[in-house]
Amino acid sequence: MLTQRLVLTGDETDDAPLIQQAAAIIRAGGLVAFPTETVYGLGADALNSEAVRRIFLAKERPAWDPLIVHVDTPEAIYRYTRDHSVLTEQLIRAFMPGPLTLVLPKREMISEVVTAGRDTVAIRMPSHPVARALIHYSGTPIAAPSANKFGRPSPTTADHVLHDLNGEIEAVLDAGQTPMGVESTIVDLTTHPPTLLRPGGVPKEALETILGEVRVLVGQYEEGEALPAPGLSARHYAPQAKLFLCAPTPEAFYGTLKDTLSRYAFVGAMRPEGWHTPPEPRLRIFEWGAWGDWATLANRLFLGLRALEKQQVHAIVCPLPPEEGLARALHDRLQRAAHD
Ligand code: TXA
Ligand code: MG
Repeated sequence: MLTQRLVLTGDETDDAPLIQQAAAIIRAGGLVAFPTETVYGLGADALNSEAVRRIFLAKERPAWDPLIVHVDTPEAIYRYTRDHSVLTEQLIRAFMPGPLTLVLPKREMISEVVTAGRDTVAIRMPSHPVARALIHYSGTPIAAPSANKFGRPSPTTADHVLHDLNGEIEAVLDAGQTPMGVESTIVDLTTHPPTLLRPGGVPKEALETILGEVRVLVGQYEEGEALPAPGLSARHYAPQAKLFLCAPTPEAFYGTLKDTLSRYAFVGAMRPEGWHTPPEPRLRIFEWGAWGDWATLANRLFLGLRALEKQQVHAIVCPLPPEEGLARALHDRLQRAAHD
């Protein structure tokens, strides 16, 4: 199959026909990768089980890992889910459209292919104008995981999507780099208190202003272990090189790099602005951004891991951000990527 790259300009009038072309592919049961404010998604008509099955095949994703359904209005959230409380409404008002996914009991029209046999569905309303237009023109909710092969770093550019999925999907809508660069926050509203299943673009602290207490799942889970929620396996988002995390100080970074260079032939560094690295031709450097500027570091995290991997380093050294605010999402993704 030939994968079409539909390049958008950001001009609504120019872009509309291309997004309509992509919507026609979705309606016909095809697969289209598209930008959201977090990462690129791999979309199919959520109400067409055959189309949704193709997502799992293209991604090589195990059937037990359910998908997020993307909609463009609050009404659609209510249409496909049930048992809402006042909290649902407050979360929608505060954070949507935006990088928040709610897990709620599903209604019948959402098939078990989407939810991997569960009676809950993960649903979100992206804020990216291209994602919103695609859902609107498709006239159907769009099921979409991140548009990478299973277990790989999420794609933040159309090039990343094509690297993983060229020839296996009908089209990719190319709108350049996605603004946030890490995935949505997932909160399960079927538990009391609600459970944070994945830290992401909306910080836990912001959720707590509405939800009060939020339960956090602790510990890491091995593949095949009974997971409290799907998609929590310890190893995920991983580049091909071995990832070493270090304490977030320039001294620890320098020391870990020296040590790693003594054990691996080619080493990559996710370097914060102004931090020093050993003078060494076997070192490949990705200029990550200013430490503490979590928005920029999130935007460039998967970009950096993929860029270093492309330079065929055997190991990557990266300082580990703290578990607070938006940095919590970076901490989570890096810990999973570093797990053997
Ligand atoms: O930002 C995002 O959320 C991106 C963009 C494309 O929207 N999507 C994304 O999807 O990250 P994915 O499939 O890579 O991760 C979704 C995760 C799954 O791994 C699974 O853990 C969780 O959402 N999930 C989906 N349905 C669920 C359910 N019913 N109960 C619990 N977790 C669920
Ligand atoms: Mg994913």
